[in-house]
Amino acid sequence: MDLDALRPDADRLWNGIEELSGFAEPDHDGWTRRVLGQPYLESRGWVAAQMAGAGLEVHTDAAGNTIGVLAGTEGRASIATGSHTDTVARGGRFDGIVGTLGAIEVARRLRETGTRLRDDLVVIDFLGEEPNEFGTSCIGSRALTGAVSPGFFDRTNDDGLTLGDRLQGAGFAPDGMLGLRWPAAPLRGFVELHIEQGPVLERAGTELGVVTAIAGIERVVASFLGRADHAGTAAMTDRKDALAAAAQAILAVEQLGCSGENSVATVGTVHVEPGALNVVPSLARLWAEVRSPSPDWLGTARRELMDRFAAIAAERGIEVDLRRLTDQDPVPTARSVQDLIADTSDDLGYSWRSIPSGAGHDAAHLAAIAPAGMIFVPSRDGRSHCPEEWTDSEDIARGAHALAATLVRMDGLALERDPR
Ligand code: GLV
Ligand code: MN
Ligand code: MN
Repeated sequence: MDLDALRPDADRLWNGIEELSGFAEPDHDGWTRRVLGQPYLESRGWVAAQMAGAGLEVHTDAAGNTIGVLAGTEGRASIATGSHTDTVARGGRFDGIVGTLGAIEVARRLRETGTRLRDDLVVIDFLGEEPNEFGTSCIGSRALTGAVSPGFFDRTNDDGLTLGDRLQGAGFAPDGMLGLRWPAAPLRGFVELHIEQGPVLERAGTELGVVTAIAGIERVVASFLGRADHAGTAAMTDRKDALAAAAQAILAVEQLGCSGENSVATVGTVHVEPGALNVVPSLARLWAEVRSPSPDWLGTARRELMDRFAAIAAERGIEVDLRRLTDQDPVPTARSVQDLIADTSDDLGYSWRSIPSGAGHDAAHLAAIAPAGMIFVPSRDGRSHCPEEWTDSEDIARGAHALAATLVRMDGLALERDPR
């Protein structure tokens, strides 16, 4: 097989990224296409049309994933690739998008070069990978791999609305997301192309990253319940200030993040009520997460976090309601897929290095049902989840080329699922 012929059309791929970035919530800086928002829902029609234009048979599964299939000559097994196209608020144009559009470009090149795979090629645009206002992430990949339980849909946002109701309002059927199984022929493997979202590749001057593991994540929502009082007349000693308690909790989260090897911890959002300049806050709800490559550290850190929040509330004589949100164990990628990507990159003449991912990915969920791996391309200055997020067109094209060649080599292969 002439792997060079599978080189993507870099301009076509880039133009697709630009076009998709036009689907954005208008009243935000940067690029905002949050899951279940109108621009996102509209954009998925565009993604489906791109898949159809690439010659894929397109459908939306019960989990809301947009799936395109290029039938193989034998079709006894499938190989899969894809990513997500939702963004965080005020995010960038590349996180997830590169993997979904890169996968579609691979399908186009296979067709244009008359390359027929024996296995079915399944391209997936997963529903809602980014954390939403309910604190859940990776809706589509969790559901597709049978990792969603009924309680998942009971999570509430700051307005008390449940995820289930919100999904239903957007035209999805939460009940249909339960108990799903891989829908196509048995899955041989999954490969996701993604931007690195960190500085390692750029600093090292390396073209590609072969992902070794995806960090685990624990998310917690803590509601500190104080008492509203007049900000001018309530003495400092008499107050039950929910926000002051939350402020202490935020610093505890930061300290915890500094305490583990390669661990991080963040409070990304705080909701305050009643939210008036001259009223002592009665409610402060913070949404916190800790991440680590170590499952042991992560479990201990979550418990420690809960204990510290409870102690802070107790010291101040207020209540705190603690809820554990979605968790994600650290996931090693399959060594067999790492090797395939690395060998293929060598053959294409691309430099690569092994790299762990601090970001979460749909691949972490696919790893539960198939040997899974990821290819990273460099991010300028390591920036991501911000409008400055940037990856050069040539870097994206290199990644898509490596993806195409890896998938062609995976065709018909029996891969080991377990890491070495
Ligand atoms: C996804 O981008 C995540 O790592 O939160
Ligand atoms: Mn992201
Ligand atoms: Mn992503």
